[in-house]
Amino acid sequence: MSQRKVHNLKAYRPPHFLVEQVTLTFELDPSATRVEALTHFKRHPDAPTDAPLQLHGEELQPELLEIVGQQERPHYHIENDRLTLTPPAESFTLRCVTRIAPDKNSALDGLYISGGMFCTQCEAEGFRKITYYPDRPDVMAKFRVTLIAEAQQYPILLSNGDKVATADLGDGRHSATYEDPYPKPSYLFALVAGDLALLEDHYTTAEGRKVTLQLYSEHHSIDQCGHAMQALKKAMQWEESRYGLSYDLNTYMIVAVGNFNMGAMENKGLNIFNTKYVLAAPHVATDAEYEAVEGVIAHEYFHNWTGNRITCRDWFQLSLKEGLTVYRDQSFSADIVSGSVQRIQDVRLLRNHQFPEDAGPTAHPVQPESYIEINNFYTSTIYNKGAEVIRMLETLLGWPIFRQGMDLYVARHDGQAATVEQFICCMEDASGRDLGQFRLWYVQAGTPELTFNSLYYPESQRYVLNVTQVCPPTPGQLSKAPMHIPIRMALLDPDGQPQSLKLVDGEQVLGAETVLELTTGEATYTFEGVSKAPTPSLMRGFSAPVKWDAALDREALAFLWANDNDPFNRWESGQILAVETILDMVGLTQQNGELPDLPESFAHAFETIIKDGKSEPALLALSLSLPTTGYIMDRMDKADPHLVYRVRQHVRQAVASRFRPLFLSLYGRHYSDEPYHYSPANAGARALKNLALDYLLENPEPTVLALAHKQFHQADNITDWLGAYGPLLRCGSPSSSELTHILYTRCKDSANALDKWFSTQVTMVAGPEALSLAKALTQHPDFSWSTPNKVRAVVGSFSGANPTAFHAIDGSGYGFLQEVIAQLDEKNPQLAARLCTYFTRWRRMVPELSQPMQNALQRLLDTPNLSNDTYEIVSKSLA
Ligand code: PHE
Ligand code: ZN
Repeated sequence: MSQRKVHNLKAYRPPHFLVEQVTLTFELDPSATRVEALTHFKRHPDAPTDAPLQLHGEELQPELLEIVGQQERPHYHIENDRLTLTPPAESFTLRCVTRIAPDKNSALDGLYISGGMFCTQCEAEGFRKITYYPDRPDVMAKFRVTLIAEAQQYPILLSNGDKVATADLGDGRHSATYEDPYPKPSYLFALVAGDLALLEDHYTTAEGRKVTLQLYSEHHSIDQCGHAMQALKKAMQWEESRYGLSYDLNTYMIVAVGNFNMGAMENKGLNIFNTKYVLAAPHVATDAEYEAVEGVIAHEYFHNWTGNRITCRDWFQLSLKEGLTVYRDQSFSADIVSGSVQRIQDVRLLRNHQFPEDAGPTAHPVQPESYIEINNFYTSTIYNKGAEVIRMLETLLGWPIFRQGMDLYVARHDGQAATVEQFICCMEDASGRDLGQFRLWYVQAGTPELTFNSLYYPESQRYVLNVTQVCPPTPGQLSKAPMHIPIRMALLDPDGQPQSLKLVDGEQVLGAETVLELTTGEATYTFEGVSKAPTPSLMRGFSAPVKWDAALDREALAFLWANDNDPFNRWESGQILAVETILDMVGLTQQNGELPDLPESFAHAFETIIKDGKSEPALLALSLSLPTTGYIMDRMDKADPHLVYRVRQHVRQAVASRFRPLFLSLYGRHYSDEPYHYSPANAGARALKNLALDYLLENPEPTVLALAHKQFHQADNITDWLGAYGPLLRCGSPSSSELTHILYTRCKDSANALDKWFSTQVTMVAGPEALSLAKALTQHPDFSWSTPNKVRAVVGSFSGANPTAFHAIDGSGYGFLQEVIAQLDEKNPQLAARLCTYFTRWRRMVPELSQPMQNALQRLLDTPNLSNDTYEIVSKSLA
């Protein structure tokens, strides 16, 4: 087996040389771009005087390497992507010329071409594919960049900061020079050159700076940028009012590119976005995507402070910027859309992605201690669990103190490359609290599990709540210490109202809701003056990223589902009830070989919710959605996707037929003929209406089919087209192929709309047919292996959202994914490695599936010349 280099946090050493200034000149040419870098180095004050200069460089050859002002050539050697040079002095300027081929760059990392335009992606380690440089985030430099390109083909030339000069070079080429006054690490460098359309607007900051906002995209999609522009202005305003932080340059640029590995990138002053998170129009973006655009625009904007002005010392600190920035974009979305809906969506994401990761072979702490390939660590743990950890700090300290801690963080570390530890110190200094135990959240992997038990004593009016915590072992961490866990809770009286809380021996009345701080493996809390037998409402608002068993019976869960005044817990109780019901039914099916009837208890509880007239529609839609097959499978020792899917479908069909009139009336009430307009309220109504239709089509009789067809043909927006088309496809409606064709003609002019045309098909067609469909779609003229969005739409949706097809018992689904990964790995290792995550849960599957899954992984491991990216995920999965 190959030996790969492992990077360890413990091995961190400050750089020997810092960069004061770097001047870059690009002569852009698709197959031979010339890059000249003039880098002014200065020895780090603490570095030994004989320390060599070490630069990163990958797939590069220096055409010229010289010390400015020196006759003789410097001594250097190149080995393993490193250039080592004997420095001539304490401080000196190196001139380095390299030539690179953006048109051959299919990894989309470094300088590449997307849709005829040049663009860059340098996080985490892409800059080293552009020139020799200390490509590490703790080296922060001022950049001056000149771009030279054919004027006709590349009229727009962009880089970070302010444009300080332009020139017509007389030979058909022109140039533009940019200067970024803020020192930054190389991963925040960006350039763009192409024939782009511009949408421009302005924003005046609280400090009075007039900022020009520029959104660039291909000409045909520039009219789809208005929503993103509005989102940007909202984000700028929100950050000023919530954090007192304003934008710091005169221009803020966003460029939409079609070929992009991730969602978006926060390059200083020049964000580069996947078109999926910029473009929005009724016929190309769903309501969910309109929301996602707002969230991602805000996320990248917020990085300007948490990421750019204060960056990370090294990549082990990645969550310092990502967890914090996700927490901030979640709070933004909660404010502009709906707090409760946002919270539920955040938790769903965490449970569907991060919990499985934390329970699998690639589990790692929020602050990892080692990696082979850093690109593999842009994970749900770093992002989403990282955000939960920040949120717990807010919960424990309270918003005002948390905000003071943030102010201190900015005051202390502005302009620096900081660490998680320094961030926590700011929170400690602002609050005067000891967060020693809290730090375990950063270094211990795994999802803690809480078990609650309670007893009510009517005579003494006391209520005793006992809780224990354990955290399961994860790779490399067999035993864990107890964590500091905030438990937000209330005790509800029979009307669903929180009773005021007072702890025995506690001095103060706590109010109707309190946050208990669990710091030990076990604790008991005794409340007094509890006049009526309460129903506990625990972990309100999902107060910690843990799993818990509240030990509630079905009756209590149904009560909470209908009555808890915490919207998250209302939803949560319904989910627990559904999971428990489905798991019981799975057990009965295994025993008896046939599907049992839907238990009355669940049907009654469901009926109460569907009749609920109080909840906002978006919340009701979430409440009536059953947990995903994946989430239910995670609750099983050995998961059988086919059985879980069958039982879940059976439950859906049962409630659909039993409550047909109620679903019909929900549909009617939320149907609208108005032209499409995105707003949270309209989106909520559409979500509820389409959920009703989705249930109704579980029993596709003529009236319902007619409704669906009417919606498909009459709607003016893709949310409603898909709301009808998806379930029609699932129920095998004879009109499917005609609808597929019609939808294609509506989508064909938009890559993003087409992505949904692709993904809906491979998701909704069940059984063996789905595989041949997925394979056929990869041959479709609109499909391309070079566009990650397309690969995700077909291969990602097939593997992640069509459990019965992917987990086909003959292993054919696994074989397909394995072959795709092996082929893609040469072209785009980051994308290939991401697709491997569909295999990582193999040990938790029933033996007849885990064996072929393991075999597929083994075949991947045996693939010659595997990238570090794929190697790391595959080898860890098999270990
Ligand atoms: N830093 C980007 C973000 O979170 C994500 C990203 C990582 C994009 C690596 C590209 C490459 O917004
Ligand atoms: Zn980010």
